[in-house]
Amino acid sequence: MCQYSAVDGVPTEWHRLHLGQFALSRAGLVFVEATAVEAIGRITPACLGLYSDESERALKSVVESFKSQAGATRIGIQLAHAGRKASISRPWEGGRPLGPAEGGWGTAGPSAVPFDAQRPAPQPLDAAGIARIKVAFVAAALRAVRIGFDAIELHMAHGYLMSSFLSPLANRRNDAYGGGIENRTRLQSEILAAVRAAIPADIPVGARISGSDWREGGATVEDAVALGHALKRQGCDFLDVSSGGVVADQQMVLRPGYQLPFASRVKQEVGLPTMTVGLISRPHSAEAILAAGHADFVALARAMLDDPRWPWHAANALGADLDLPAPTGYAVAPRWRQNTEEAGALPDPMLGAAEAALAKAAQ
Ligand SMILES: Cc1cc2nc3c(=O)[nH]c(=O)nc-3n(C[C@H](O)[C@H](O)[C@H](O)COP(=O)(O)O)c2cc1C
Repeated sequence: MCQYSAVDGVPTEWHRLHLGQFALSRAGLVFVEATAVEAIGRITPACLGLYSDESERALKSVVESFKSQAGATRIGIQLAHAGRKASISRPWEGGRPLGPAEGGWGTAGPSAVPFDAQRPAPQPLDAAGIARIKVAFVAAALRAVRIGFDAIELHMAHGYLMSSFLSPLANRRNDAYGGGIENRTRLQSEILAAVRAAIPADIPVGARISGSDWREGGATVEDAVALGHALKRQGCDFLDVSSGGVVADQQMVLRPGYQLPFASRVKQEVGLPTMTVGLISRPHSAEAILAAGHADFVALARAMLDDPRWPWHAANALGADLDLPAPTGYAVAPRWRQNTEEAGALPDPMLGAAEAALAKAAQ
């Protein structure tokens, strides 16, 4: 998840601490946030980027810390290009478009169609621009391999560059990269093929794709299935199905598991290992999704920020064993917590009454 805490693309101590929490989480796989493959592909000037030696060195150090304590947890990186959604301020600074005087830059996209009325139109990518971006993805993937990442996910969702090529709402090209679905999936297929060919076969390369633009005339789940097939032909190892973010006036319907039908359809039709994400926070819900065969992985975003020990608690709730960190106390902490909660209110009559009063006041 984007932390907006890098300097010139280079991770800071924040990243070491932030990711360190998840090194102890015992999650199966942790993905580092959307990491730009070139400077103008960052969403904000504070986004992570993997286009310099300095960033590679600093990220390697963070990943080494992570791996030194992570047990069986694997670490991957999401490589991204923000396209026409780049060059804005951080969310807590308003997320508004930045002009050159404020450190902003001109953005790139499939066509000169802006994301919304506040933003300038992107520069449509020409053949040289497309070639440059492919090289940038390959170079960043090679850096990721040198750093020691176990997996790479290419960001093809949320309206960023590759996702905007899929969407007829953003892509109005009439060359080989626009129009029919084969053309609207060409850039993504070429980038995946180039990355796949450049890195060792034992490092999985997958893609986060979009199940819907949630807008009439936008990309649909049929487009997601077509993209999935195209990526599979190029050696894609897994798919991660999200949605939305292509246009400002989308009509998204949010409810637990709201993106699961897209993942399930993509998994069934494309047949690649498929991840689902979105408003899943209960261990039993995650388990039910896997047991029903709707997805092969469940990704948690906000639930893990809220509770980086989520997998410990999920293992407890589902009766699974986890190899918890050895230092004294950690291995018994989840069981202790559960036993304490089951024991109920504090035994002292006065404290017990105070606790009940506090609980009532909080309702
Ligand atoms: C603060 C924040 C940062 C995010 N950063 C990314 C990102 O870097 N890459 C990405 O694909 N999705 C990103 N997302 C979307 C999440 O990965 C996820 O798809 C979404 O939050 C829904 O899942 P959840 O309900 O488990 O949070 C971000 C979401 C939030 C709230």
